[in-house]
Amino acid sequence: MADNIRFTLNDELVEIVGVPAMTTLLDWLREHRGLRGTKEGCAEGDCGACTVVLERQGRRDAINSCIVLLGQIDGQSVRTVEGLRGAEGGPHPVQTAMAEADATQCGFCTPGFVMSALAYASSGGTSDPDAIHDALAGNLCRCTGYRPIVEAMTRIAGLAVEPPPAPSPVSPRTASIAFDSAFFAPRSLDELLALRADHPEALLLAGATDLGLLASRARTPPKAVIQLTHVPELTAISSTADKITIGAAATYAAAAPILIEAFPGLRAYLSRLGSSQIRNMGTIGGNVGTASPIGDMPPVLLALEASVTLVSQRGMRELLLDEFFLDYRKTALAPDEIIQSLSMPRLWEGETFHCDKVSKRRDQDISTVAGAYRVRIRNGKIADARLAFGGMAATPRRARAAEAALLKDGFAAAARAIAMDFKPVDDWRGSAAYRLQVAANLLRRLELRLADPRRVLEVEAL
Ligand SMILES: Cc1cc2nc3c(=O)[nH]c(=O)nc-3n(C[C@H](O)[C@H](O)[C@H](O)COP(=O)(O)OP(=O)(O)OC[C@H]3O[C@@H](n4cnc5c(N)ncnc54)[C@H](O)[C@@H]3O)c2cc1C
Ligand code: FES
Ligand code: FES
Repeated sequence: MADNIRFTLNDELVEIVGVPAMTTLLDWLREHRGLRGTKEGCAEGDCGACTVVLERQGRRDAINSCIVLLGQIDGQSVRTVEGLRGAEGGPHPVQTAMAEADATQCGFCTPGFVMSALAYASSGGTSDPDAIHDALAGNLCRCTGYRPIVEAMTRIAGLAVEPPPAPSPVSPRTASIAFDSAFFAPRSLDELLALRADHPEALLLAGATDLGLLASRARTPPKAVIQLTHVPELTAISSTADKITIGAAATYAAAAPILIEAFPGLRAYLSRLGSSQIRNMGTIGGNVGTASPIGDMPPVLLALEASVTLVSQRGMRELLLDEFFLDYRKTALAPDEIIQSLSMPRLWEGETFHCDKVSKRRDQDISTVAGAYRVRIRNGKIADARLAFGGMAATPRRARAAEAALLKDGFAAAARAIAMDFKPVDDWRGSAAYRLQVAANLLRRLELRLADPRRVLEVEAL
């Protein structure tokens, strides 16, 4: 069994020998390969200084190299800032635009911005300011200011800055592989389940946007991982007239189009979940798997009445997500089980779905409170409602007292009932009183939205 990591770096085939697969891509680029154009700022996926581009399936996706493990790169094509070439050896059009717009000062953040700009412009990015702001939300600059950077992005938007990526010359693996006898990369569900049973100590690894921090910020990489992203059943996305099913290891970027088409209320919310770098790697299964009380997807999935399919060598079972979260970071997942997929029923006639994220910063921030609401209206009255919140308790959960009060006595009663549903904690993101007030206000916003969507859109645009 071959056990060297192979990938393409700036069009050159690379085979890594003797470097642990748990090394971050950033450390390997800088310390082993001597490519220091890619910078380390925060080492936790926040600043974007380490942004590189993955060239895959005809697309260019920006990712944070500080939280990606080398084993995840096997078989992929990576481009760093050193791999940009302009005509006749001159600067690349993105670099020219940055220079001409005076979009750089100390230059520390610049390679990261250049790589995000490359991914944006070469994936059909337009000059729409909101789209540019979204594409840059994962990159921080502390000295230039963002106006000239946005100006540079505007100049290159719509230009064919780079031909579509060539297919990777690395032949895809057909069999499971293990790097360092610790980084397992199964290719089929059967192999995955056998590995899960044989290696209970190994952590399940999807996008690594949570787990990668062990290797980067904490410098204590996991001892063993089982990678989920090569197993077709875990990355499949499907839909029928009744429901949407998202493989647990499908990235947010891959799942977003179908989710937004089915639940348009998710569009703005998803654009605030991490950054494009995070959404290009992170998965919904990982968000549910961490069982964080402030993960953004659980309230959405709870409100949508999602179910979770769990699989092990013992068989398959389906649970309503309501039954999955047991206590703080405790779930119903058995040690030998894996989340295979999440399914949610489509909206029926008369149903509408909305959600809100309240955080200290608009972009790249974890929620203080998140709310999601699926509401059925019949004959001008609310006939059914599922209201779910994150950041209000040890687990994401439904607000059942508020749901009952809403059906019986309306929104004002529902807002008052929030205090019966939740006893939130005080922490640096917000006090318990603040959280209760925010959740109650979100229900008031929902009332306004349902009465006159335009009025709330104006408020949201502020
Ligand atoms: C800069 C930054 C910004 C972020 N912003 C947000 C945000 O705005 N909102 C938010 O909610 N989160 C945010 N996150 C957290 C993270 O991106 C999400 O939780 C993401 O969904 C994790 O998915 P992943 O695939 O990267 O998980 P991984 O890191 O691969 O895994 C996370 C956990 O889930 C487990 N797991 C993964 N897949 C499965 C499975 N199929 N079955 C069972 N267990 C599984 C893993 O074992 C691990 O314990 C952010 C993270 C960073 C670094
Ligand atoms: S170093 Fe800051 S995002 Fe990677
Ligand atoms: S140019 Fe100095 S941090 Fe951006």
